[in-house]
Amino acid sequence: MFKRLFIGEKRINLLEIDSTNAYLKELISMSDREIEGLVVVTKNQLKGRGQQGNNWESENGKNLTFSVYLKPNLLAQNQFVISKVISLGIIDFLMDLGLKKLSIKWPNDIYCGSNKISGILIENALKGNKIYNTLAGIGLNVNQINFYSENNPTSIIKELGKEQDLDELLNQLLFFIEKRYVSLKSGKEKFINNNYLDFLLGINETLNFKVDNEIVKGEIKGVSSIGKLQVKINNQMSEFDLKEIEFLI
Ligand code: BTN
Repeated sequence: MFKRLFIGEKRINLLEIDSTNAYLKELISMSDREIEGLVVVTKNQLKGRGQQGNNWESENGKNLTFSVYLKPNLLAQNQFVISKVISLGIIDFLMDLGLKKLSIKWPNDIYCGSNKISGILIENALKGNKIYNTLAGIGLNVNQINFYSENNPTSIIKELGKEQDLDELLNQLLFFIEKRYVSLKSGKEKFINNNYLDFLLGINETLNFKVDNEIVKGEIKGVSSIGKLQVKINNQMSEFDLKEIEFLI
């Protein structure tokens, strides 16, 4: 049922590693043999990297922590669509598993209700005005119940009350990611963009944001192709990157 074509067909399973993204980056830099769809996965990620220099918490043997190597053939200015593809692949998978109240907190945090369940770290290497390759790192909380992180993460076991088989789940998740990726490659970018907005947390709602250390009210209207958050503040549209705005929900 979860038949894949290429993502995860080649896989490197590591007992433990600092970071699957860092490992994959190193591997690619040493070898010219580029294998689109290669997945590096570990049960024990010791120094998981998150967005904005944060750490990614994951208890040994409890969660999915892996990175996928992609060659998306995109212009650099359209790079954010990869984030959308991965986010939607994770959402599709979690929905199929029976989780409810799923959303994407810009840029690509996956939430279940008001708690984060999955994080994505996309690292694109650019050549000229194009993306040369992409490392998509994914952390998904599966069987972990207690977390140290302040933001009170959730996990599949916390939502469904049932322990999951990590290998089986990885195969299913890769299937859903591949489906979205293939739809991008076959030109369904508009559909992906609309779907991303369907799941975007807080879209068209009046929310409090922190901009330049001030609290302002604004409405999220969308995300630019490069990934900036488009917010209407005092009837004027502005675009922000991750360092420039924090939204307080
Ligand atoms: C975030 O939400 O801040 C992004 C977290 C990304 C974590 C994953 S786990 C696998 C891959 N390897 C890493 O070092 N980070 C990503």
